[in-house]
Amino acid sequence: MGFISDLKIMYHMVCAKNTGANHEQRLENFYSSQMEHYDDFRRRLLHGREQMMGVLPLETGANLIDMGGGTGNNIEALASRLSNINSVTIVDLCGSLLNVAKKRIEQKRWKNVFTAHADATQYKPDFGQADAITFSYSLTMIPNWFDAINHAYKLLKPGGIIGVVDFYVSRKWAAQNNIKHSGLTRAFWPNWFAYDNVFLSQDHLPYLQSKFNTLSLIEKKGFVPYMLGLKAPYYIFIGQKPIESD
Ligand SMILES: C[S@@+](CC[C@H](N)C(=O)[O-])C[C@H]1O[C@@H](n2cnc3c(N)ncnc32)[C@H](O)[C@@H]1O
Repeated sequence: MGFISDLKIMYHMVCAKNTGANHEQRLENFYSSQMEHYDDFRRRLLHGREQMMGVLPLETGANLIDMGGGTGNNIEALASRLSNINSVTIVDLCGSLLNVAKKRIEQKRWKNVFTAHADATQYKPDFGQADAITFSYSLTMIPNWFDAINHAYKLLKPGGIIGVVDFYVSRKWAAQNNIKHSGLTRAFWPNWFAYDNVFLSQDHLPYLQSKFNTLSLIEKKGFVPYMLGLKAPYYIFIGQKPIESD
C-alpha cells in the first residue's frame, strides 16, 4: 500500500458524500468510492480486530454472526478455527462492501461463510439462536446501537458469546475498573470521527458490561494514520450472555 493509495482513501474519507436519505444510502455513498482500498487502510486504523477474533471462544460446530462485517476481512483471523465451526454469517447494510466479502469467500473457497444484506438491528438467521456474535468497529456506525446490542442479546443462546472491538471514550467519571480518559481525549476524538458518521460513545462499553458477564476487557489506544502520532482509544470486550437467561 503506497502513499498515493493512502492519499486516495484520505480524499474519499474527507470528500466522499456521507449524506443520503437514509442510513443505508449514507453507508453506500460513503463506502462505494473507497471499497477497493478499504482493507489496506483500515488495517492500520482499526486496531485489535485480529486479537478480538483470535481470542473469541468458539466451540466446534458453532454458528457465528459478524454484525457490520463489511468486507469479511476479519474472518481471515479465525485461521484454522474456521474449519471447525458450522457457519459464519457476515451481516452488513452496505452492498458494496458485501460484494468485496463475496469475492473473498469465493477466492478463499470458504464453504461455511455466508453474507446477508441486512440491518444489524433486525437480522434474523434461519438457524435460530447463535453461539457467538461479533461487532468489529460497527457499533460506532450503527445509529441505534442500543437496538443492535439488545437484538444481539436476543439472538444469542444462553451462555452465548459477544465480541466487540471499537473506538470509544470513557465517561467523565468512569467506573473504578475502567480506564478514565482526559477531557481533551473525550472532546477531541468524538468530534473528529463524527465527520465520517462514526459516533464514539461513552455508553457502549458500560451498556455491554451491564447486559453481559465480562470474560475479558482490554482498553488501549492505537495510532491513527497521518495524525502526527496521535492515538485514539479503543476497547476489546468479550462477554457472555448469562446461562440462566432465555
Ligand atoms: C468501520 S466498518 C467495519 C467493517 C468490518 N467489521 C471491519 O472490522 O473491517 C463499519 C461497518 O458497519 C456497517 N454498518 C453500519 N450500520 C449498519 C447496520 N445498521 N447494519 C449492518 N451493518 C451496518 C457498515 O456498512 C460497515 O461495513
